[in-house]
Amino acid sequence: MIERAAGPALVIAGGTVHTPDGPRRVDVHISDGVITSLEERRSASPGPGVVDARGMYVLPGAIDVHVHSRDPGFPEKEDFGTLTAAAAAGGVTTVVDMPNTVPAVDAGGVLEAKAALAHSKARVDFGLWGLIRSSSTAEQLESLARAGAIGFKAYLGYAFSLGRKQILYTAETDDPDLEAPPDYGTLLRLAPVVSALGLPLVIHAEDPGILAAFRRPLDSYSAILAARPPEAEAVAISAAAAIADSVGTRLHIAHLSSALGLMAAEAALKDGSRLSLETCPQYLWLSDQDFPRVGNVMKVYPPVRTALDRAALIDAVDRGVIRIVATDHAPHTNEEKARPLELAPAGSPGVQTLYLSCLELAKRLGDMWKAPRWVSEGPAALAGVHESKGQITPGFDADLVLVDPRRGTEFRPSLMRSRQRHGALEGMRSSFSIAEVYVRGRLVAREGRKVGKAIGRMVAPR
Ligand code: NCD
Ligand code: ZN
Ligand code: ZN
Repeated sequence: MIERAAGPALVIAGGTVHTPDGPRRVDVHISDGVITSLEERRSASPGPGVVDARGMYVLPGAIDVHVHSRDPGFPEKEDFGTLTAAAAAGGVTTVVDMPNTVPAVDAGGVLEAKAALAHSKARVDFGLWGLIRSSSTAEQLESLARAGAIGFKAYLGYAFSLGRKQILYTAETDDPDLEAPPDYGTLLRLAPVVSALGLPLVIHAEDPGILAAFRRPLDSYSAILAARPPEAEAVAISAAAAIADSVGTRLHIAHLSSALGLMAAEAALKDGSRLSLETCPQYLWLSDQDFPRVGNVMKVYPPVRTALDRAALIDAVDRGVIRIVATDHAPHTNEEKARPLELAPAGSPGVQTLYLSCLELAKRLGDMWKAPRWVSEGPAALAGVHESKGQITPGFDADLVLVDPRRGTEFRPSLMRSRQRHGALEGMRSSFSIAEVYVRGRLVAREGRKVGKAIGRMVAPR
């Protein structure tokens, strides 16, 4: 592969390109980080400023709308530098970070400070979600929107520590330090504000009442499944959809995990809800049967459920009902994940294996070219960046991934660039490998290794 020369112009030549009209053998011409034209191949002479992509697929960079950078707040788990090194290695050219960092991103000033921090370290572009608390005001949401929030996330059932300015995995509120979790009342109160701002409302969809009724010691994986039944997901989706519909709010369901939740969502869609659905590779590749092999690394909330749930989710992705596959990249340390099941925190890294696992799934479903829709086109629409990212077409950012279909990849810890090298898909094989990754025309990773500086920029919806 030829090193690109200094200067703004670049041509990715000789590859098979995922264009809006389908795969085409064209050269991608880039200037100042933007795609200027797609042209039929004229000459076969590589030279300065020309990347030889013969034999490669040229795909739009993935936009992972669900990552947890842990920055600021938990540097031992991850930070923006390691997160985006892993993202770049895996062909993710934009990440959208969740607001459960510390201080939690509940107002414009916090978002601005986080953006400056992220900007100093990010190797790929990034957007930031804002947080909805039970005490959130219209002014706070408006300030978040002005600061560039992609939208707002409500963690149903997760309390807020006032002293630590942090979301906790508990629904308890008897401690005076704890602010009550956001509930359906919070959503109904703030839905008109969110709607007026034109941004999406994202929910962690597990009904707190159902979780409370089914609490039990988590001494086995089946206990986790019993403690977080799929009805909790279905009820939260139906309730939130009814609330969002009442004022026309765009509602987004994070990490859909169950067939029952999917049925609730499809019913709402049929009734005209402005609903978007996201699932994650762990729900598409794993089931409860994998727990003895994978262990606590696959403890995530909502949980990975049965093979029937997995089949329903795969089918919904294939049908285009679920338009977004994101990772919920949620790193915790090896020590934390090695605790007994009950005490190990929920969440696992995954940003680096998003694209390769989706290409493999799409291939097995008969059309690998579907994968860019799930990881790039669908997410661009949710994040409101669909006029500049998510497609390989003139005028769009040159966020490009060169995929080699002649070499496969086995997901091994030694390849992982996140601060945490474990992953729920460890051991899996993809028939593809990621050769080179470009963000706005700049090479950011080659053969799984970061290249160059932290050139990531913040993106905001329009
Ligand atoms: C996430 C985390 O660790 O931040 N954990 C998880 O199990 N998914 C939080 C979340 O996405 O709900
Ligand atoms: Zn969640
Ligand atoms: Zn998450």
